[in-house]
Amino acid sequence: MSGSDRLRDLARLVFHLGNNKISLAGTVLTTGSAFTLVWFWVMEATSHRAVNPYVGILLFLLLPGLFVIGLMLIPLGMWLRRRRLAKEGALPTVYPQIDLGTPSVRNAILLVILATGANIVLMGNASIKGVEYMDSNQFCGLTCHTVMAPEYTAFLNSPHSRVGCAQCHIGPGAGWFVKSKLSGTRQLFAVAFKTFSRPIPSPVDHLRPARETCEQCHWPQKFHGDKLLVRTKFGEDEANTPSTTVLLLKIGGTTWQGKAGIHGRHLDNEERIHYISVDGRRQEIPKVTYRDDSGKLVEYVSDDLKKVPADKLAKAESRAMDCVDCHNRPTHAFELPDRAVDKAMMEGRVSRDLPFVKKTAVALLKKEYPSREAAAAQISAGIADFYKTTYPEVFKQKQALVEAAAVAVKEIYLRNIFPEMKINWGTHPNQIGHEESAGCFRCHDGSHKAADGRVIEADCTTCHTILAQDEKDPKVLKDISPK
Ligand code: HEC
Ligand code: HEC
Ligand code: HEC
Ligand code: HEC
Ligand code: HEC
Repeated sequence: MSGSDRLRDLARLVFHLGNNKISLAGTVLTTGSAFTLVWFWVMEATSHRAVNPYVGILLFLLLPGLFVIGLMLIPLGMWLRRRRLAKEGALPTVYPQIDLGTPSVRNAILLVILATGANIVLMGNASIKGVEYMDSNQFCGLTCHTVMAPEYTAFLNSPHSRVGCAQCHIGPGAGWFVKSKLSGTRQLFAVAFKTFSRPIPSPVDHLRPARETCEQCHWPQKFHGDKLLVRTKFGEDEANTPSTTVLLLKIGGTTWQGKAGIHGRHLDNEERIHYISVDGRRQEIPKVTYRDDSGKLVEYVSDDLKKVPADKLAKAESRAMDCVDCHNRPTHAFELPDRAVDKAMMEGRVSRDLPFVKKTAVALLKKEYPSREAAAAQISAGIADFYKTTYPEVFKQKQALVEAAAVAVKEIYLRNIFPEMKINWGTHPNQIGHEESAGCFRCHDGSHKAADGRVIEADCTTCHTILAQDEKDPKVLKDISPK
């Protein structure tokens, strides 16, 4: 049988069996959703507004679903009709002639071929768009609004606000994509039935190793040398007296001395450091193993290990150290009141010319409020009232500054405190230094000792050279940039 004969037979079969209600309904559904989809895509491509996450679900997930269901109804209808005909004994051995010479028949076949082609293109595009959408920040951050609000808000205020959630939480490759969609489905149920934990637990149990995510963009071999850190704080006195600390952080990495400094010591081609933590939050780390430069395995144990009950020790988490053990809040960086106000003052959003503004702001932030709305109102009013009653002259002359400060302080509260998710000051501590939480001192506390007498260094010069500490006008800064 030649190709064209086969095609003719197939066409006859389709014509004969396709003539049933289910297949017709399928055709209508598919065509209808196809037109709607294309229309939405045109709208999406030409509009400047981001897609609303709920419309997004309809657009990128539901419509393609209908489209596929429609497509599947067509053969289903044909199959059912064939079965019925067979039962009735009415199935023709040769399907009724269709005359390829007739233009209408030829056009019909052409139409089916074209429609099939278009369907394949549409399906491809729809699945790419669906996947893209499910990985988008709107979908991850906004669809389950209350649940993700804290992480999404902190993310928007971070250096990674232009990086996709999926780039850190899923990373490249099909394996993790499928894994994440499976756990995503579980999460949808958790949200639907409100069984999720508040706050969402951190550390994340099965976060993909940072090697495979962070290192898509940053890689340890890239680091070398020191980093200058200049940090200004403001006092709680009337003049909000500033003081500045200047540190040379030995961030290190690959240098002529080999793997040195902060990045070089902990991270290497092999997983260099393993540790166990016993509190479920990676705050208490009683044992660390380290492969030193000669390849020897060193075991550092703190006195605390002896105090850990055996059952707790059996459940301890064992982990290979990676980026996230120091940079646990690279993007969901919640702030503490003191530092947040310092930062707002550095940026000029809270003016240093307002007497006692640092003290007032921090005190207002630390108070407890019945809700976010109440907090927003009372913080704004609190700042204004303070100047109205205590410094009426200042209030009169600098009302604009007072109002700006009120807004800035209120915003600090709103981006850090989420009572619905039980996120309060310090719920998710940042491990990067040792000021806000134990951080580096979880291991570098001088009490982690090896059998041969070695200690994980706790000397202040191990990690940084302190060039100035809380000085009014550090000389070193003038030396670096003389005017
Ligand atoms: C730069 C990388 C990065 C990006 C981008 C990112 N995350 Fe995260 N996320 C992390 C890390 C790291 C953690 C904490 C991991 C740990 O401590 O185990 C985390 C933790 C979380 C947690 C657990 C709760 C918590 O606060 O620790 C949630 C929920 C979360 N992220 C949601 C999101 C959402 C939603 C987005 C996008 C809007 C996003 N993440 C974007 C890196 C990222
Ligand atoms: C898709 C690329 C991408 C990924 C993935 C990524 N980052 Fe970044 N990261 C960036 C960019 C871009 C910047 C610089 C932003 C800037 O300069 O404002 C940055 C900045 C940083 C900084 C400096 C922040 C600062 O305050 O200046 C740190 C630390 C960092 N990333 C850590 C991480 C960690 C840890 C991960 C994995 C959990 C990660 N990044 C994943 C792109 C990425
Ligand atoms: C032992 C803790 C530790 C580990 C592990 C670690 N870092 Fe860092 N990293 C630091 C510290 C400390 C700084 C400086 C902090 C600062 O700028 O305040 C830093 C700075 C950075 C910066 C900013 C560099 C700059 O020049 O501003 C990036 C980007 C970064 N780290 C990425 C990573 C990535 C990616 C990994 C994993 C491959 C990683 N870090 C592992 C401690 C660590
Ligand atoms: C999980 C435990 C752990 C944590 C957390 C940790 N370190 Fe380390 N660190 C080690 C170990 C182990 C060594 C290697 C000790 C040795 O040389 O025998 C090390 C070595 C170093 C060195 C090299 C010291 C030298 O003599 O060359 C620096 C610098 C350093 N760490 C900085 C930091 C900083 C900064 C942080 C926090 C951002 C940090 N570490 C967090 C375990 C840790
Ligand atoms: C294991 C490494 C390590 C050791 C040991 C260490 N520091 Fe630090 N320190 C850091 C890192 C990392 C930062 C920067 C944190 C950040 O980026 O916020 C820091 C920041 C600081 C700051 C500035 C903090 C701020 O926000 O004002 C001071 C001051 C400081 N260290 C003092 C000390 C003193 C004093 C000692 C000795 C008792 C010491 N450090 C030991 C790693 C270390």
